[in-house]
Amino acid sequence: MARRYMKQDVPLEKIRRYLEPGPIVLVSSSWEGERNIMTMGWHMVMEFSPSLVGCVIASSNHSFELVRQSRQCVINLPTTALLDAVVGIGTTSGSEIDKFERFDLTPETMEGVDAPAIRECHAHFACRLHDDSLVDKYNFFIWEVIAARAARTPKHPETLHYTGDGVFMVAGKVVSRRSAALLSMEPR
Ligand SMILES: Cc1cc2nc3c(=O)[nH]c(=O)nc-3n(C[C@H](O)[C@H](O)[C@H](O)COP(=O)(O)O)c2cc1C
Repeated sequence: MARRYMKQDVPLEKIRRYLEPGPIVLVSSSWEGERNIMTMGWHMVMEFSPSLVGCVIASSNHSFELVRQSRQCVINLPTTALLDAVVGIGTTSGSEIDKFERFDLTPETMEGVDAPAIRECHAHFACRLHDDSLVDKYNFFIWEVIAARAARTPKHPETLHYTGDGVFMVAGKVVSRRSAALLSMEPR
């Protein structure tokens, strides 16, 4: 039988620890000769086909104007090997430094967008802006993924999942419950 846990109240501003699934991603962008990277945890898959992903990019971030103007970005998936870069990229501004140089990362071209992918990441998703109707109110961008590329192995990389307060969880154990009911929910 499933365990019944003793519970305690959680401060509302701390619920990210439970609901933010991650994985942490790196959003790369470019506009008018400038390139940049930011760290991002607030994203969600919204639709299979077209492949839609929503995310919050605070307007105080240098990346905000780059993605808003260019209407595109690349979402890159880092693993534990890039933990220090993930933190550094998420605590510095592209208005002051070139983060590709500072964090020793390699830009590479990605089909369909001018924004550079980050070679050291496990996977890359090229995105074009699908809907900006929630940007002014919530800084919420809805992207259509138009090209995707991922490493063949490992199948389940050690991705980083942020729980706030400077603490990350690392993806680990994989469990399976393959059933007709679950598989019928997959896209054809
Ligand atoms: C683990 C982590 C997760 C973050 N998630 C987000 C996010 O989802 N949205 C956001 O706007 N900023 C997020 N940030 C903050 C930006 O990455 C940070 O403000 C960064 O300096 C922005 O860079 P830029 O000003 O060069 O665009 C996160 C930072 C860290 C360290």
